[in-house]
Amino acid sequence: MTLWGGRFSEPTDDDLRRLNDSLPYDRRMALQDIAGSIAYARALEAAGVLTADEASQIVAALQNIRGEFETETFVYRPGDEDIHTAVERRLVELVGPAGGKLHTGRSRNDQVATDFRLWVIDAIDRISGHVEQLQVALTGQAEAHLHTVMPGYTHLQPAQPITAGHWLMSYFWMLARDRERLADARRRTAVSPLGAGALAGTPLDIDRAALAQALNFPSCSQNSLDAVADRDFAAELLFALSLLGVHLSRFAEDVILYSNPAFGFITLSDRYSTGSSLMPQKRNADPMELTRGKAGRLIGRLTGLLTTLKGLPSGYNKDLQEDKEAVFDAVDTVTAILPVITAIVTTLQLNPERMRAALSDDMLATDLADYLVRKGLPFRQAHHVVGQAVREAAERGIGLAQLPLETLTALSPLFEADVVDVFDFDVSVSRRKAAGGTAPKAVAAQIEAARDWLERHRT
Ligand code: ARG
Repeated sequence: MTLWGGRFSEPTDDDLRRLNDSLPYDRRMALQDIAGSIAYARALEAAGVLTADEASQIVAALQNIRGEFETETFVYRPGDEDIHTAVERRLVELVGPAGGKLHTGRSRNDQVATDFRLWVIDAIDRISGHVEQLQVALTGQAEAHLHTVMPGYTHLQPAQPITAGHWLMSYFWMLARDRERLADARRRTAVSPLGAGALAGTPLDIDRAALAQALNFPSCSQNSLDAVADRDFAAELLFALSLLGVHLSRFAEDVILYSNPAFGFITLSDRYSTGSSLMPQKRNADPMELTRGKAGRLIGRLTGLLTTLKGLPSGYNKDLQEDKEAVFDAVDTVTAILPVITAIVTTLQLNPERMRAALSDDMLATDLADYLVRKGLPFRQAHHVVGQAVREAAERGIGLAQLPLETLTALSPLFEADVVDVFDFDVSVSRRKAAGGTAPKAVAAQIEAARDWLERHRT
């Protein structure tokens, strides 16, 4: 028997049942469903709908059912349409008709919204913990490479020397914002829809605020129609995960490039590299390519849910059932990637000599212009003079540092013998010591700020 069979004279078509059922995936919310029902039973008792005896019986049975889920002994039956009907069916089996009173004033509409919010809150906490681990790993590697100088790129063209610690820490802050976004989404998710009923609210004398508290929601929804109809919290989570995925994807791209022998800046540990079945020499960064690829999947889940929500009339619509697979898949995806990336970062070998070998004098052109600025030339003119010097060097097929002093002084009389001091990559990075710069000193301060941030955002 279905929960809603009363008005029908024929059983549901089998194909429709398969299409309609959400049990295959929403069974993941079993524990949340039980927690919601236990709190609701107590609220019904307080409202005088259930006697103390009935409430205790129902709660005890629900605890039993929870045990069945925990020990994986819960038996699903053919009529179980979703996790809510499965639990209620089992409840009636255990306590008899009194079990049927639990759904008084409740709809699966406020029930599913409650369960799903509880599940999402849990997922956010777990994911934030994984991201935290990655932040810790990045900070550790950055600290070990405060003085390692590497080429920094813009447009993927050699730009200026930076320190490897600085490169690694750039991702720390992206992840920090991702965790802030998750925390922010969590705040808006932690609003209890329970007691909203199907759409219009409950006629029962239920203390919704107390009910919310019992489920660790700091507050309850202000509008029953909104409470059952919107899935903005799910969309927000999907956005936060998509952007996290985009950040991880960009990091993955760096790792793929830098581990390419043409760069050779880093080496992935054997444990996290893959080979080719045909080419014996191959050493691929598959986990990083998967990370890059899965960002597309995360964005797809976000786009899919937004498209589902767009144009829905107010109130609950069955389209909303699409929310769960999207969120479960996105959560599973980032949960699968994050520990692998963290391990890769922890075991990553940086090759400082390869990084240094990739530095070219050209990358000090800005420093050369800064030299002229220190001697009083306006930057715009200095830029032009150095541009001419770069061209001169290129035409002669030599590096900028190899240009004879006379050639430089011909371009500007401000050049003097001390210009040789400019051509030092370590000096170049150490000059950028203002807050947020690439100098080892500034990066050390950055790492201290990062540790402070981690301290304030412990999961
Ligand atoms: N399985 C449904 C969902 O995920 C539960 C809510 C069903 N409500 C309804 N009025 N049919 O959305």
